[in-house]
Amino acid sequence: MPSLLTRRHVIAGIAGAAGLAGTAGVVAVAANRNTPKLVDPHSEAIHRAELARQRPGAATVRATLTPRPVTLDLGGVTVDTWGYAEDAPAPLIRAKAGDRLRVDVVNELPVDTSVHWHGIALRNDMDGVPGVTQDPIGAGGRFTYDFTAPHPGTYFYHPHSGVQLDRALYGVLIVDDPNDAGRYDQEWIVVLDDWVDGTGHTPDDVLAALGDGTAGMHGGHDTPGMDHGGMPMDDGNMESMTSPLLGGAGDVDYPHYLINGRVPAAPVTLTAQPRQRVRIRLVNAASDTAFRVALGEHQLTVTHSDGFPVVPDVTDALVVGMGERVDVEVVVADGVFPLVAVAEGKTGQALAVVRTGGGSPPSAEVRAAELDRRVILTNQLRAADNVRLPQREPDRTHDLVLGGGMMPYRWTINGKTFTDAEPLLVGEGERVRLRMINQSMMFHPMHVHGHTFALGDGGARKDTVIVTPHQTVTVDLDADNPGQWMTHCHNIYHAETGMMINLAYQL
Ligand code: C2O
Ligand code: CU
Repeated sequence: MPSLLTRRHVIAGIAGAAGLAGTAGVVAVAANRNTPKLVDPHSEAIHRAELARQRPGAATVRATLTPRPVTLDLGGVTVDTWGYAEDAPAPLIRAKAGDRLRVDVVNELPVDTSVHWHGIALRNDMDGVPGVTQDPIGAGGRFTYDFTAPHPGTYFYHPHSGVQLDRALYGVLIVDDPNDAGRYDQEWIVVLDDWVDGTGHTPDDVLAALGDGTAGMHGGHDTPGMDHGGMPMDDGNMESMTSPLLGGAGDVDYPHYLINGRVPAAPVTLTAQPRQRVRIRLVNAASDTAFRVALGEHQLTVTHSDGFPVVPDVTDALVVGMGERVDVEVVVADGVFPLVAVAEGKTGQALAVVRTGGGSPPSAEVRAAELDRRVILTNQLRAADNVRLPQREPDRTHDLVLGGGMMPYRWTINGKTFTDAEPLLVGEGERVRLRMINQSMMFHPMHVHGHTFALGDGGARKDTVIVTPHQTVTVDLDADNPGQWMTHCHNIYHAETGMMINLAYQL
């Protein structure tokens, strides 16, 4: 198949693999060398934790999701894909903190699927990980997710099956704070995505090409100056797949980048009145792309990261990694402004149009000067006082050495691919420290299911954090939600080829 990959990353990957050789054998030593007994996702402990979350008088929010083959119009680009609706993203699900969600999933796909509630500290048996917390939902099958959503914030849902996330199978879940009406006049939900499905390759084709090393190489040979068969792979493109902020910025050079399911040539329009205060909920549902986001002629006040409040930070632009959600506030000026999400380190961008007054719409290639001013990563944010994790010495520390590369295409934690990696054992009630040590050439947005960790001392509460090449990020969490919790890179191709490990409560 023609290539979506850049040769530069094949090379970078080899260097990464060489680096890995030096770390093979660095495996977190389990506290208990004998086979530990793990908390079963369907046991009494999970039921007890759920009861503690339930509130008297809580409402039940019901929804139905029907994953199925759909044809989507991305704005002049029509694609056959899989979605939950005739649109991407799927319809919003909205609840109040403490509400119970009951979501019926009716699988009309030709394959197994599942739904994971990304960022929610829910009961383990509803976490949606086939083979760990439930059986896969087979083709033609049904499953009802039924859980309490304890914490307010911006979340999303997607399959935890193969690389299905890289299709249109994603939607936003907002949990409102019943005690906080919000200080804003308008709310815009902005979902970022990288898109390939239905353009000649499926995400499974991409995965296969990555795995057999033929992607970018036309039959396994990738020599400089060879004919790339008219694919969008020139030297400029190759160079552009690294980012000064992220290092190796991705493995897949996507044909399209989307905001709310639209290509930049036919963007969505977000409206408000001049001088209104708008809350923008940014969700990065992409599979291999971080986005640098800015709103032309405005600064953004970051208020929440992964659902939890932060000390407000005023910035010109910010980078949102895959799986991250960031809420920003902005007082909008009068006119028409581009909301630009540049594929960080890649060629291309997503666009939405902000309209509060007269003016002609921006072009698809519009840039915003703010993109090159103050740019922050969310790991620079500080937790708001009311969500700071109380200080406590860790009861145990686990290292997660992030390794791997492009040749072979294999991504590892502690030198192993899932499910070979030794689980990260924890005990209920413990303070657990995770040290994520990136020894690869790529950035990895590392996500922990079922918990919200704290970044260092007083850092933001998050469930997904970018770890850049050769960086170590240390996070602490309270082990207060028993079960078996996937901890993985939210680059879906990295996760699918091994970069996942089990944060395992033991009995
Ligand atoms: Cu959105 Cu296991 O992740
Ligand atoms: Cu990764």
